[in-house]
Amino acid sequence: MKQITRLALATALVVSSVANTWAQGLKDAYKKEFMIGVAVNQRNVTNTEQMALIRQEFNSMTAENDMKPEPTEPQEGQFNWAGADRIANFARQNGIKLRGHCLMWHSQIGRWMLGDNPTKEVFYQRMRNHIQAVVSRYKDVVYCWDVVNEAMTDDRNAQDPYRQSAMYKLCGDEFIAKAFQFAREADPKALLFYNDYNECDPVKSQRIFNMVKKMKNAGVPIDGIGMQGHYNIYGPTEDEVDKAIQLYKQVVKHIHVTELDIRVNEEMGGQLQFSREGVNVTDSVKQHLADQYARVFRAFRKHSDVIDCVTFWNLGDRDSWLGQNNYPLPFDTEYKPKLAYTYIKEKKAPKWDMPKRPAPRPRPQGQQGRRGGPQAQQRAPFKPELAFPEMEGVKEDFAPSTKNQPGQDYPMVNSQGYVRFRVDIPDAREVTVSLGLGGRGGTKLAKTYDGSFVGQTEGPMDEGFHYYHLTVDGGTVNDPGAQNYYGSTRWESGIEIPAHDRDFYAMKNVPHGLVSQVLFWSESTKQCRRAFVYTPPTYGQNKKEKFPVLYLQHGWGEDETAWMTQGHANLIMDNLIAEGKIKPFIVVCTYGMTNEIRFGGLGGFTAKEFETVLVDELVPYIDSHFQTIAKKEGRAMAGLSMGGMETKTITLRRPEVFAYYGLLSGGQYAPEDIKSKDQVKMIFQSCGSKERPDGIRQSTEALKAAGFNAHGYVSEGTAHEFLTWRRSLKEMAPLLFK
Ligand code: XIL
Repeated sequence: MKQITRLALATALVVSSVANTWAQGLKDAYKKEFMIGVAVNQRNVTNTEQMALIRQEFNSMTAENDMKPEPTEPQEGQFNWAGADRIANFARQNGIKLRGHCLMWHSQIGRWMLGDNPTKEVFYQRMRNHIQAVVSRYKDVVYCWDVVNEAMTDDRNAQDPYRQSAMYKLCGDEFIAKAFQFAREADPKALLFYNDYNECDPVKSQRIFNMVKKMKNAGVPIDGIGMQGHYNIYGPTEDEVDKAIQLYKQVVKHIHVTELDIRVNEEMGGQLQFSREGVNVTDSVKQHLADQYARVFRAFRKHSDVIDCVTFWNLGDRDSWLGQNNYPLPFDTEYKPKLAYTYIKEKKAPKWDMPKRPAPRPRPQGQQGRRGGPQAQQRAPFKPELAFPEMEGVKEDFAPSTKNQPGQDYPMVNSQGYVRFRVDIPDAREVTVSLGLGGRGGTKLAKTYDGSFVGQTEGPMDEGFHYYHLTVDGGTVNDPGAQNYYGSTRWESGIEIPAHDRDFYAMKNVPHGLVSQVLFWSESTKQCRRAFVYTPPTYGQNKKEKFPVLYLQHGWGEDETAWMTQGHANLIMDNLIAEGKIKPFIVVCTYGMTNEIRFGGLGGFTAKEFETVLVDELVPYIDSHFQTIAKKEGRAMAGLSMGGMETKTITLRRPEVFAYYGLLSGGQYAPEDIKSKDQVKMIFQSCGSKERPDGIRQSTEALKAAGFNAHGYVSEGTAHEFLTWRRSLKEMAPLLFK
């Protein structure tokens, strides 16, 4: 069914995008002149409809980000090919030509390359290794490379024509020569390009020309010039484009337009120093866009003897690095062709004159324009579609986890339980998330185009709450996007995979009880200890009303905060009370002194010290400070995991204190453990279906057979985690104090 819908959609798109010329794309219209290319992100080559559009319209592709220096080699000698491979494979499988972009650039380059102030020799060695690795990996499919990107300055008044980048400062223009030599060495067949923006500006184009000429005279293997083509509707003029091509043609045999887009606002150029402000896209703006495309394409066609390829920078406005508000591409945000598409394809002449550039508006502080202004590099906003491929069977309905810190998008969870992580630690070498699929050591994140680390779990996670942490370069840290929860004896990051039955612990508009923090003196440990006490909504309204009390314990790695925070015990109680499913009672949680116990040290664990604190110090405190039924029939004890072990030991050793027992993933009672049948009114035992449910079922049957009032519960689809225990509390509460 899904397949059919997708196919239908793809077909609809194909039909709508070519009007009457079935299956004829831009590439077909320009068969005689040059190839038509497109820069692609991860989503473009994994989404069925977008893939179909690429196949139909384009015969050349460029990886928008995934073949750049930093994404391919985030750390020296550590390569990350996943994104680049995906794009290369798409090109291979569909017979689409691939332009390689780019080998050396001052931007999107790993800090390791130049950050430690290497000598020239060390830098050249690093550069050579990088170029060798990337170029040889894609030799079979990449037919040309942008070897050096953006090495000339935009500063019209500068004496020195070169951009004052770290590589230039270290090596002068020799680094350009070296890069081309290394690239030729790695693939003697690939065409090698110098690529730059503002390339139609008379001052800059002359600089580009001079540099390439000088290099070629010195024997540097430069085959072509890449004109990025980041234009707008106010410029360059057709004449400027024509002049620039004429100039470049004198020095190279190949010219590619490498990154064509046309903004409808007045900003131009190749760096991220534009405001992303939208303009109101009126019909006349649409016409101006179509006209400017018509003009530049007319200039390109005039020089089709040297121009072999014209590449659009992105598939549709939705993908545009400029933000969709700039309305820059022939396809709109829905991948529908615009008027501009028709003008390009049908090789129409422009209808109107070029619009007059509006009077310059003052720019907001910190957003200096490129022309004349200092070149402060702005970081690109993170876009998930650039980093996360669409995957067969994985729904694209990711939303921030409900346990995230305010304003944080990541981690994200989809409706199937897949999780996407993103952490912004640009200088890290290795980032792994402890969450993932069973036993496989979690999810390894990879550096993406903007320097951050991203990754997706291999499969869906169990519903409910999970603790996790990151391992960054060998050290344990929390995810800055997520809130922290006490578990595993530390404040761990927490994530919530929305459970289908989450309603029972949801925060709703019902009367809510109070959770008070109580500090009580413990003579045996000579310190003040803390407990959290839940009192139901009606508590205290009638001063004479007494309430029973459940003493509820956490597990080995948690503390007294766990049940009321990640356990949502108070909300579970509020909801049960509101629905009339239980008679209100008090819940008390204190620290069970379990954190210090090492794994393997359980055998000697007696819970003796805790028994004293609980039974001889906390119970009397609660009975004297709250309206309780201060006798055995008014008390229950239950605990999860190791708290269950404590419950079992303490209830058996002190039969006079509690009348109701609950073990949640925390062992079982055998009939012979319990001295007298009358000592207990109800026994509740539970665990997740992914634990050992048979143990629970069998022991509950045995208890029943021996005449005990015993109840067993298995939480479907969950393991030794909090959703098992939230559900267990919900099932146990109605059975208490009956
Ligand atoms: C841009 C990408 O489109 C963005 O996604 C990224 O954040 C920054 O780089 N000149 C180039 C391209 O040569 O590599 C740039 O691509 C745009 C300017």
